[in-house]
Amino acid sequence: MQGLTIRDATVDDAAVCAAIYGHYVRATPATFELEPPSAEEVGRRITSYGSSHAWLVAEVDGVVTGFAYGTRFAERPAYRWSCEVSVYLDPERLGGGSGTALYDALLARLLGRGFQVAYAKVSQPNDASNALHAKFGFERVGLLRRVGFKLGAWHDVAILQRDLVPPTPAPAEPT
Ligand SMILES: CC(C)(COP(=O)(O)OP(=O)(O)OC[C@H]1O[C@@H](n2cnc3c(N)ncnc32)[C@H](O)[C@@H]1OP(=O)(O)O)[C@@H](O)C(=O)NCCC(=O)NCCS
Repeated sequence: MQGLTIRDATVDDAAVCAAIYGHYVRATPATFELEPPSAEEVGRRITSYGSSHAWLVAEVDGVVTGFAYGTRFAERPAYRWSCEVSVYLDPERLGGGSGTALYDALLARLLGRGFQVAYAKVSQPNDASNALHAKFGFERVGLLRRVGFKLGAWHDVAILQRDLVPPTPAPAEPT
């Protein structure tokens, strides 16, 4: 997409990220949050995930059109080389390549920080998300059946996995 850039988010991006994400919280099962988080809360997530993993935004002509982030897959320490990734675009900007550009940058960043495996939990159905993850080599390694109830329906969640590096016998600490 012409004029598309990817950069690290700052807390100044919190309001627009909260507005984009809030749409998916209110109107879709793409996320299982039920109450849109405030801009302050999204700002806290940008700072926290940005410092431990990554929070990137896509920008077109100076306007933020979407974001992607990595965060811990799970809290317990042996999980620390595994991360969970997620991506949300302004609903007016779907299908234009921003998801691909964000994941290109995000997965490279996570690899550079020493993470070994990326996971995505994708509530079903979600053809666009399934296609984006497949494009980046994520494979379905599990399906949680009927694990979430939102907007009047039960939803399965596919667990998708992409190895960022081949298995390493003595992995260095993520930085
Ligand atoms: C998922 C999402 C980030 C994809 O971003 P995008 O910019 O629309 O995707 P891209 O244009 O980069 O396309 C990536 C691939 O997915 C395919 N794709 C995109 N939308 C699709 C759709 N609705 N159905 C099927 N395939 C689709 C594209 O054809 C492309 O594959 P190709 O390069 O082999 O042709 C975006 O649709 C989105 O924000 N969806 C709503 C939020 C969401 O569900 N997030 C995921 C939470 S797990």
